[in-house]
Amino acid sequence: MNTAETVLPHLDQGFIDEAEKIISQYPVSKRSASLPLLHLWQKHFGYVSREGVEWIAQKLELEPIAVEEIATFYPMIRLRPLGKYQFKVCRTLSCALAGSYQLFDYIKQNCNALQEVGHHVYLSEDGQFSVEFVECLAACGNAPVMMINEEEWMDVTKEKIQEILAQLRKK
Ligand code: FES
Repeated sequence: MNTAETVLPHLDQGFIDEAEKIISQYPVSKRSASLPLLHLWQKHFGYVSREGVEWIAQKLELEPIAVEEIATFYPMIRLRPLGKYQFKVCRTLSCALAGSYQLFDYIKQNCNALQEVGHHVYLSEDGQFSVEFVECLAACGNAPVMMINEEEWMDVTKEKIQEILAQLRKK
């Protein structure tokens, strides 16, 4: 077992195999695997932690700072976790025409999710809520549409947002 696996023994074999497969696609310059590995990590864990940066660096035989530079350069890589409740607002045409951009701002304001932690991804100070845009959620006839974690909400209005937030805050 190399040192990379000893840092995070809880990583499952499937994840490690996927990482190895990515690295094998860059035989000449392992460094080029940094971004795909960052994406892989984010896909599995929701964001790239310090632990993730160090694991990738060890795998690629790089200094952590080299991976960190790439992670901070690309806005689609999130270096902080999303909220406990993750609002994903569709911004594709039907939803945009039905007011999803205004809804997005409304959610942001009402969750106090003003801290940008990724490209158009906002997190509330208490870590409870995050808000981000997504592309078409395949319910265009009921625009505007959003997800909260895994649950889809259609025909969303500001009033509905208020009701939902009141419920979530009671939990
Ligand atoms: S455009 Fe929003 S669900 Fe399709």
